Amino acid sequence: MNICIFGLGYVGCVSLGCLAQNGHTVIGVDVSKDKVSQINAGMATIIEKDIDRIIAAQHKAGHISATMDGDFAVLNSEISIVAVGTPPTEKGHLNLDYVFHVAENIGQALTHKSDFHVIAIRSTVMPGTCEKIVRIIEEKSGKRNRKDFAVVDNPEFLREGSAVEDYYCPPLTLIGSDSQQASEIMRSLYRDLPAEIIITDVKVAEIMKYVNNTFHALKISFGNEIGNICSALGVDSHKVMEVFCKDRQLNISPYYFKPGYAYGGSCLPKDLKGLQTLAHDLYVPIPVIGSIDQTNERQKQRAVSMLSKYFGKKIAVLGLSFKAGTDDLRNSPSVELIEVLLGRGFDIGIYDHNIRMARLTGKNKEYIDSRIPHLANLLVDDLDGLIRESDVIIISNKEPLFSEKLQHVSGKTIIDMVRISRNDLKRDNDYRGINW
Ligand SMILES: NC(=O)c1ccc[n+]([C@@H]2O[C@H](COP(=O)([O-])OP(=O)(O)OC[C@H]3O[C@@H](n4cnc5c(N)ncnc54)[C@H](O)[C@@H]3O)[C@@H](O)[C@H]2O)c1
Repeated sequence: MNICIFGLGYVGCVSLGCLAQNGHTVIGVDVSKDKVSQINAGMATIIEKDIDRIIAAQHKAGHISATMDGDFAVLNSEISIVAVGTPPTEKGHLNLDYVFHVAENIGQALTHKSDFHVIAIRSTVMPGTCEKIVRIIEEKSGKRNRKDFAVVDNPEFLREGSAVEDYYCPPLTLIGSDSQQASEIMRSLYRDLPAEIIITDVKVAEIMKYVNNTFHALKISFGNEIGNICSALGVDSHKVMEVFCKDRQLNISPYYFKPGYAYGGSCLPKDLKGLQTLAHDLYVPIPVIGSIDQTNERQKQRAVSMLSKYFGKKIAVLGLSFKAGTDDLRNSPSVELIEVLLGRGFDIGIYDHNIRMARLTGKNKEYIDSRIPHLANLLVDDLDGLIRESDVIIISNKEPLFSEKLQHVSGKTIIDMVRISRNDLKRDNDYRGINW
């Protein structure tokens, strides 16, 4: 394929060399005369393992060149990759001026081009940027999105220091696209890479780098705070984290990564508090671990705010325990939500077939007696009747029976805390997810 790359910095230079090595003909574009001259002399614009050798070889083979003339580059390629810088502004926002400037340049060039052209945004950009780029290109070129051209988001996952290795072995290849034609072109561009190619919504792809990098920063900070606590206790922190990483079911796994409602139960809140108190007693500051429960409290408040507009309606809460398949009510976020709503005068009915008032004993009974003493009056046995008589249905745990019953429900407001399958619901319901 013929490809052009705007921006010959770390990302652009590595893509230029590696795409050429994979058999493509690549034109680099930069506003820096020096960088253009370096490529045209067969030299890399960056210091990075293996890139000198690749650029020299691909230049010698005639597979790469560079220019300051963006029009020439676009007219001689099928795909324009945008890899210009997106530095932070003084206030911490992203400066997208370079990206929009390139979009204008590409739009201008497309006025002279009749073939379909793909613009792949490799720079890290905020959700909504590709939409703006589409508008700029349509305005400048008079061409139509998805007919004459398409803008896809194709975030770069390489790390400086191992950039070439990362290019050839990425964790995945991500393409955010709303054009079938562009998706297929991008898929064939990366077909030689060993990674899974994921085609998804444009905005999902756009936010992914931020989600990844924020999580990486969180991982480092979590590891460091655990290390600081261990060190104060004389415990070997590296042995601790080695064992931690061996748990691939709950720790290093997709488990617990589903956006939804607050955590609860008898263990997570108690053990988190225990570690926070231990660190406090050891005089070890732990701002990350110390604020986890604040996020959890906010999530409960979010549910209350979401529900406040349904005052005066009949509310059904499906699920009372902190997760499906248990009768443990201690620190159940559902109990806390009901407590707040009852305090505000909401009319509530509850169904949870694991909760039998007569069988509640010990700490579990003590807890519920202190939070919702008249729970027995609110619990119903007839799930169908409760659903029928209610205007708003809150699904607060993933009991399979709930999804089964809700398939037959029409014309209700459904507030989902756990993401049941929406495809199973009738369209005339007013469905709302807590954070989707
Ligand atoms: N460096 C990394 O490790 C890395 C990894 C993944 C993603 N990213 C993202 O990729 C993007 C590029 O990062 P980088 O580190 O390669 O940046 P960089 O600063 O090294 O290179 C950017 C290049 O773009 C050129 N440029 C600016 N305006 C231009 C224009 N109008 N036309 C042509 N060229 C222009 C600059 O002269 C410069 O050579 C950023 O959004 C960054 O966040 C970087």
